[in-house]
Amino acid sequence: MVFDIEMIKAVYASFPAKIEAARKAVGKPLTLTEKILYAHLSQGDASGAYARGKDYVDFQPDRVAMQDATAQMALLQFMQAGRAKVAVPSTVHCDHLIQAEVGASTDLEKAKNKNKEVYDFLASVSNKYGLGFWKPGAGIIHQVVLENYAFPGGMMIGTDSHTPNAGGLGMIAIGVGGADACDVMAGLPWELKFPKLIGVKLTGKLSGWTSAKDVILKVAGILTVKGGTGNIVEYFGEGANSLSATGKGTICNMGAEIGATTSIFGYDEKSEAYLRGTGREEVADLANGIREHLTGDPEVYADPATYFDQVIEINLSELEPHINGPFTPDLAWPLSKFAAAVKENGWPQKLEVGLIGSCTNSSYEDISRAASLAQQAVDKKLTAKSEYTITPGSEQVRYTVERDGFLGVFENMGGVVLANACGPCIGQWARHGAEKQEKNSIITSFNRNFAKRADGNPNTHSFVASPEIVTAMAIAGDLTFNPMTDSLTNEEGQAVKLDEPQGLEMPTKGFAVEDAGYQAPAADGSSVEVIVDPKSDRLQLLDPFAAWEGTDLTGLKLLIKAQGKCTTDHISMAGPWLRFRGHLDNISNNMLIGAVNAFNGETNKVKNQITGEYGEVPAVQRQYKLHNIGSVVVGDENYGEGSSREHAAMEPRFLGVRAILVKSFARIHETNLKKQGMLALTFDNPADYDLIKEDDSIDILGLETFSPGSPLTVVLNHTDGTKDSIKVNHTYNEGQIGWFKAGSALNLIKAGK
Ligand code: F3S
Repeated sequence: MVFDIEMIKAVYASFPAKIEAARKAVGKPLTLTEKILYAHLSQGDASGAYARGKDYVDFQPDRVAMQDATAQMALLQFMQAGRAKVAVPSTVHCDHLIQAEVGASTDLEKAKNKNKEVYDFLASVSNKYGLGFWKPGAGIIHQVVLENYAFPGGMMIGTDSHTPNAGGLGMIAIGVGGADACDVMAGLPWELKFPKLIGVKLTGKLSGWTSAKDVILKVAGILTVKGGTGNIVEYFGEGANSLSATGKGTICNMGAEIGATTSIFGYDEKSEAYLRGTGREEVADLANGIREHLTGDPEVYADPATYFDQVIEINLSELEPHINGPFTPDLAWPLSKFAAAVKENGWPQKLEVGLIGSCTNSSYEDISRAASLAQQAVDKKLTAKSEYTITPGSEQVRYTVERDGFLGVFENMGGVVLANACGPCIGQWARHGAEKQEKNSIITSFNRNFAKRADGNPNTHSFVASPEIVTAMAIAGDLTFNPMTDSLTNEEGQAVKLDEPQGLEMPTKGFAVEDAGYQAPAADGSSVEVIVDPKSDRLQLLDPFAAWEGTDLTGLKLLIKAQGKCTTDHISMAGPWLRFRGHLDNISNNMLIGAVNAFNGETNKVKNQITGEYGEVPAVQRQYKLHNIGSVVVGDENYGEGSSREHAAMEPRFLGVRAILVKSFARIHETNLKKQGMLALTFDNPADYDLIKEDDSIDILGLETFSPGSPLTVVLNHTDGTKDSIKVNHTYNEGQIGWFKAGSALNLIKAGK
């Protein structure tokens, strides 16, 4: 048993009382989302209602899951917290670093060699600190979580944007950055702005060619890529209860494409069947015991407009299969209108590759339905015109579908089975010829289709659909094919039609696996050594940041006055730099290289106040560091918006920047800066930004009496001998001032305070 039944028992034992307290606090019937959120308040029982979309609330998640790319820095930081073990059950999944090239076993072996140092580190650090470790080849994080860990009414965070996949089993599951994962593993609460709620009422029942994927493709078309921002999407209604648990997972997974915080379905018979089918009888029995608390209150679903901030209704009986794209997942086309759209827009009609599987769509149901079409192709003497790949989501699914003959069917049709890993879904696809950047079309059952996402070619028109539609299209090799109405010509020159796909939600013989790829941690990890090669350029153990020296900061140099947009991507660029995400020194060479210098309008070119010459931002800062001179970064509005990447806060801290002074901050980045022991300050008068000169030396005064709500003073010493003294504000509370004084939040945790 890989899941923690005692934790689930504890969550369920306190659930009814917590829901009762929440109902009293809120004063009305509750949605499922509210029940789970109020049941996970870090303060215990609810004492009042929170304002949706306004209040920041501390939660206590039950679990943490991390994929191998983001886990590196999260765990390097966790090691700084001085804990013997993780505070909540946590897992690491090796899925992102395996490149798809020729097929499962060769690709997997290659990845094991190439990423050995990362895998060795993750395996050893998991072993030491009590985390479950899923080896490369074990599967994709979200599928493995759904099969093993997700439980109705639970709350988890995961360091990947498709963590909401677990909402298919009734869990609030939210994607976060590594710093948040580190905090929760260290036992700290996790803060979230109390979300708004979108209710999606599903009526009717799916049939024929339509599948669960089409529900979210339709919702994406309605809400667009921004429509879910700050919201949790809750699905309900008889239509919801008719969907398989894995189908629900697909819908929740792709909720990330509408920007939703997460998506969720209530507990029902399908959830129970999936729990039992995946070896979690005990969890199903426990969930049955508190069944009424694992869905929204009946009054809510009877009158959703009163209880949700927005309501959408979809009739599954009338829903058509959809194809979304190209280049964005919210461009939704009903199948009947797609062929015309292809022609009108001049998209390449010839389909080059169909790709099924991934974290989004690789359940037994998905694979069996797609295989029923592949079998028809063979039986009806149709040769697939496009290349076709299958990415199983987990070793358990792969083993089972191989046992049941489906992989063989795909291979008979010319399909290639890839490793149980992200592969093309995250751009880990060595697609032959992609470098020629030719205009071409592909169709996938994945979730994202932004330009370059799958193969790096900006001219690849990528469309998203269900595995069934992808398979039918790959057989036809033509994007204008409509399998519901059109015929194909087979090898014997006959016109044949594909029948509707058939499949099973779960295997009649049950799931099976020989080696799931799981490695349990040592019961006592105290003597386990964490493996980091000191010569590695990808991994580096962290040293704690120095505590505050106890005085005002004087004689700081201006490093850069950034102008206009400065997102976390400008501060810590992604792309090739991601290779160094576990090596703070190396990745710091990208610090602020995307920010525009207000004095010359250029990027990565700032004045070095020691030499008077212009140089690259990281190089100039390294020279200040060498001379023990602190520096200040000045920025514009909404500084640090974008992804929650903690590197954007760690790099300046590591290189010796002492303060970030801006017109306004994006909130997550501001908090990340505080956690790293940095000063995050805002101009009281935004026009003071104009007073900052290129050669300024800067003092920050008032730190000895640093306290919540009281401003600090910044003195700008200009080279002409004049000075400007300006008022700057901050949002530090007592605890956060403690982080600053200790040098970082982790230093404080380590000190046991
Ligand atoms: Fe994410 Fe796809 Fe992997 S969306 S977790 S990259 S399979």
